[in-house]
Amino acid sequence: MSAPATQRSTAQVSVNSAVHEIEGPPHTNALDFLRGVGLTAAKEGCAEGECGACAIMVARPDADGTTRWTSVNSCLLPAAALDGQEVITAEGLVDGESVHPVQEEMAVRGGSQCGYCTPGFICSMAAEYYRPERADDASAASAAADEDHHCGPNGFDIHSLSGNLCRCTGYRPIRDAAYALGQPEPGDSIAARTQKSAPTSASTDIHRTDTATGEAGRYRRPSTLAEALDILAAEPEVLVVAGATDWGVEVNIKGARAKSMLAIDRLAELRGITRTDEYIELGAAHTLSELERELAGSIPLLGKLIPQFASRLIRNAATIGGNLGTGSPIGDTPPALLALDAQLVLTSATGSRVVELAEYFTGYRQTVRGAGELISAIRIPLPLAPMTSFQKIAKRRFDDISSVAIGYAVTVADGIVTKARIGLGGVAATPLRARATEALLEGAPWTLDTVHGAAETLAAEGTPMDDHRASAKYRTAMLRSSLERFYAEQEAGR
Ligand SMILES: Cc1cc2nc3c(=O)[nH]c(=O)nc-3n(C[C@H](O)[C@H](O)[C@H](O)COP(=O)(O)OP(=O)(O)OC[C@H]3O[C@@H](n4cnc5c(N)ncnc54)[C@H](O)[C@@H]3O)c2cc1C
Ligand code: FES
Ligand code: FES
Repeated sequence: MSAPATQRSTAQVSVNSAVHEIEGPPHTNALDFLRGVGLTAAKEGCAEGECGACAIMVARPDADGTTRWTSVNSCLLPAAALDGQEVITAEGLVDGESVHPVQEEMAVRGGSQCGYCTPGFICSMAAEYYRPERADDASAASAAADEDHHCGPNGFDIHSLSGNLCRCTGYRPIRDAAYALGQPEPGDSIAARTQKSAPTSASTDIHRTDTATGEAGRYRRPSTLAEALDILAAEPEVLVVAGATDWGVEVNIKGARAKSMLAIDRLAELRGITRTDEYIELGAAHTLSELERELAGSIPLLGKLIPQFASRLIRNAATIGGNLGTGSPIGDTPPALLALDAQLVLTSATGSRVVELAEYFTGYRQTVRGAGELISAIRIPLPLAPMTSFQKIAKRRFDDISSVAIGYAVTVADGIVTKARIGLGGVAATPLRARATEALLEGAPWTLDTVHGAAETLAAEGTPMDDHRASAKYRTAMLRSSLERFYAEQEAGR
């Protein structure tokens, strides 16, 4: 498969090995672009990242310098973000007269009825089919079967389909198809592509005029952080976009348009994980999936949180910086990061500063981040607390936003709580620390009596509201029972 040239005057993407110029105003999403060039397998079901009918595969860099085929929701991704990238759609999995093994298994096992969701399922399944760790997971399949990882006998992680919904077939035949897959055959060109490096993130500058509506806007993807910060300093109103899983919903559902967009998701300086004796630093543009893989449980609290964050399709694009960039009170990472005493590195053209996450949120969707600043990294101080937990209370276990989220990090020495950190989300205008409960716990014996005594204090932290996700009363009840649940989990784990 040939990568498009990096020197060019127009944005280009390789789709199923054919190079296409990317056209349309900068807010055009990848789904509309693909369908516009006749690749109509990917479908629009919801246009908000919930159904997966629009899933495609993109060649993304892996930590070891190779390439990983990564499934993403094309309805949320700006088409311009595909500049210089390589994409495979469900059409591209067919090789001459032969359908792909994933397509074959879905057909023979009755995994498709109306077929609307099928191309999306096929792309998510194919990305999992090529997951390099799958062969190892096949031999350790029983070990990998817990509530967050459920691998079949062939190592296929069924949660890789958590972002794909089917309204008519039913999921059993789809699971049967997934678990019937073998390993890629020698000579499989899509598997062979993973052994080479992924396309580089060429800088992009798309400034188009939409003849119907006047000037449509500008999309820029600088190739260095310094360049990005210069743009931000000169144009503080520019819209920063990373994985676009929040922004794409704004565009599709609320009709949001930005005159000027600055893409930061491929900036090398914002990616990766750095470890020192004092902290673990997470690059703000690392995706949730990359963090899950590369941390490999080394920050257990994040290991508990990430599988509960949205779906695999969303986690493959959503960045940790984006989750904090919105300043949302219901993001899942703030309660966990507050419990971990995390700090944010805020970087502008004039330098960097480190702020405590607990001081970052100042009001509803408001933060201390200045107009010219980006979140460049998240620091987790070491050592980590030995007892941690993440409780996400939502209507569905996967692919849902929290009604309430609670992160715990507690240290007990000789039966006494020496440090307690509790982060809360969904119970106030901002994520917050349960400081009164923390104070009550610290210095107290780690017993059920202490826990019961602190439950009412925890129930009174925050100012929960009624909304379509949950009532204030329910949120308060969830807080009240949460500490006992944490205690029970810890005692059960001893
Ligand atoms: C179907 C669906 C399910 C979801 N489920 C969950 C869930 O379970 N839990 C949850 O917490 N969220 C969830 N989300 C929300 C979303 O996926 C997350 O908030 C995600 O982390 C956003 O990251 P992003 O890279 O896509 O951000 P983008 O959409 O690119 O950007 C979001 C905002 O952050 C700003 N931003 C991005 N990066 C930076 C940076 N480095 N510095 C400063 N500002 C920045 C942008 O300017 C923008 O305002 C869901 C979204 C969808 C569509
Ligand atoms: S159309 Fe439903 S996730 Fe994209
Ligand atoms: S086959 Fe009809 S929605 Fe899945």
